[in-house]
Amino acid sequence: SIKEAQDSPKTYEDIISTLPKDNGWKKPLYLYQGFWYIAFQLEGVIFAQQNFQTQPGDIFLCSFPKSGTTWLKALAFAIVTRNRFDPSSNPLLTKQPHDCVPFLEMDYFENPAISGPGGLSLWATHIPYASLPKSITDSSCKIVYICRDPKDVFVSLWHYLNKLRADKFEGTPIERAFELYCNGSSLYGPQWDHVLGYWKASLERPNQVLFIQYEDMKKDSIFHLKKLAEFIGYPLSLEEESEGRVQKIIELCSFENLSNLEVNKTGKRTHREVEGGKMDNNAYFRKGEIGDWKNLLTSEMGEKLDNITEKKLSGSGLTF
Ligand code: A3P
Repeated sequence: SIKEAQDSPKTYEDIISTLPKDNGWKKPLYLYQGFWYIAFQLEGVIFAQQNFQTQPGDIFLCSFPKSGTTWLKALAFAIVTRNRFDPSSNPLLTKQPHDCVPFLEMDYFENPAISGPGGLSLWATHIPYASLPKSITDSSCKIVYICRDPKDVFVSLWHYLNKLRADKFEGTPIERAFELYCNGSSLYGPQWDHVLGYWKASLERPNQVLFIQYEDMKKDSIFHLKKLAEFIGYPLSLEEESEGRVQKIIELCSFENLSNLEVNKTGKRTHREVEGGKMDNNAYFRKGEIGDWKNLLTSEMGEKLDNITEKKLSGSGLTF
């Protein structure tokens, strides 16, 4: 079992080779604690479970991929660093948000001594709530989760994967990818279980887990940014509010601003998943809109996803 594998020093390969496997995508996915992973990310998840130690004051930004991770990283980073840098020298202007807030199961795995610029206590992860390192869930550290309408998430993922593939090999046809996604076999899927894990945690431990919807952050950025800042322990004072600091942070982190920065237009970051290792920073900035699924999916496909969402979330109190 996985437990035994974790207790004795087995290699990740040993652990992973015992897991259920899905060969529907270009790279095989493995089912671990109820969620699907590609091998290199799963190594990072297991490593974090075995080794990560929370420090007081750590803040965790959690998400299902393509749900607004980059945006949440930028917002939290801008909130936490607003008094460390003057507006013209914030690292967000010259570094990709992913290089400002490390991923637990990727960056920490590669370099356990890593921290964000300035030794900040901000971390990000796509690990589902139930699989988070015990050291996080046993602590009182703040956890923020961002989620997004599954239709837009699937479409965002589809475009992202095509970008990753960058003409190097043929992708999975969209109909097949959609079917796999609906069945839950996609990176960190099933999305609904991922969302519900954090949703329930936010209801049970409202002081530890803040649950944000991408759509709400878009529609009422001021309200949700202030709530986020307060929750993570960096509330904006009345004086800051009257100086327009809330608006400034929103503008700094807006899709328009970030996506037009040189670093995000032409820069590259290291990404182990990509052959050659370098990933275009602009792959994380596509449209940033609500409802773009309509430009790719048929209305039948949209309805199918909505039906699954309704069924899976029924009784939870959560809707999209
Ligand atoms: P689209 O593909 O729909 O445009 P993640 O950051 O979790 O990988 O999610 C990527 C999605 O968030 C992409 O969605 C991307 O365009 C969008 N995004 C990136 N930065 C954003 C920002 N500052 N504001 C709003 N959306 C943003």
